Amino acid sequence: MPVTDELPPLDILLPLERAGERLEPRTDEAELLALLTDRMPVDPPRGVHVRANMISTVDGAATGADQRSGTINGLADFRVFRALRALADVVLVGAQTARAERYRALAVPEGLAETRRAFGRSPEVELAVVSASADLPPELLEGTRPPIVVTTSASPRLDALRDRIGQDRVIVTESDAPGVVDLRVALAALGARGLSHVLAEGGPTLLGELIEADLVDELCATTSPLLVGGPAPRIVRHGEWFDPARHLRPLHLLHADGVLLGRWQVVRLGA
Ligand SMILES: NC(=O)c1ccc[n+]([C@@H]2O[C@H](COP(=O)([O-])OP(=O)(O)OC[C@H]3O[C@@H](n4cnc5c(N)ncnc54)[C@H](OP(=O)(O)O)[C@@H]3O)[C@@H](O)[C@H]2O)c1
Repeated sequence: MPVTDELPPLDILLPLERAGERLEPRTDEAELLALLTDRMPVDPPRGVHVRANMISTVDGAATGADQRSGTINGLADFRVFRALRALADVVLVGAQTARAERYRALAVPEGLAETRRAFGRSPEVELAVVSASADLPPELLEGTRPPIVVTTSASPRLDALRDRIGQDRVIVTESDAPGVVDLRVALAALGARGLSHVLAEGGPTLLGELIEADLVDELCATTSPLLVGGPAPRIVRHGEWFDPARHLRPLHLLHADGVLLGRWQVVRLGA
């Protein structure tokens, strides 16, 4: 991980009334966290606020040739990424991302604990992993603070998982399709534990399902100034067209070193 004093300034492009302002990196990142919470509901209407954070290249790739996102991101993205984590009660990922990106128990980003507290977040940031198989790396499940695993009663590893990480760390939900987690129920279960600010860090499959189920309030989308070609996924993987297509309203757009960092409000169906 880069040291924080290398982080670049971020220039505001949108909203227009703040265009030209520069957010210099600060130890507490109070200005950036304030921008990232601007127009965020204090009491989310459904009890849980879901913000997704994803990165893609200009040609739309969500990974580099190594099938991971580490080769398409950089310091500007890292600066926003850590600020978003500091504002999350829980980071939610699909199991494939947890495996590919080698997720482990999360720590509050260095230097941001005080600011996080000032924004009303709990002292720890939790990790929740959605998995039908519950086939997760031992290194992820070991340790004093294992992730919350969201799975179904059809998982062949359910009993072993409960033994390993504790019954209270396992959320079991069923959708109508066998072996598929009901994500609405899963989010409500996280909210019932006081984890109401959810940061979904992907991957594209989980994000596609969350959008299809109309569960995403906001999308932070970084565009990296790269062209990689290849068979990479986009940030949303979904076999069917969304019907209707979802509309987004820009909340802000930042720039640093050719990287564009957008924050979009998802217009919820029926809103
Ligand atoms: N560009 C970015 O911002 C970004 C962000 C994150 C990840 N990525 C990249 O994206 C790739 C991984 O994404 P992905 O789309 O392949 O997978 P993913 O969304 O991370 O995970 C898919 C897995 O999650 C579980 N899952 C998801 N929805 C479920 C449901 N409703 N019920 C039960 N289980 C469910 C299943 O796990 P099981 O297989 O365990 O059953 C499924 O195989 C990696 O290459 C990663 O590097 C990119």
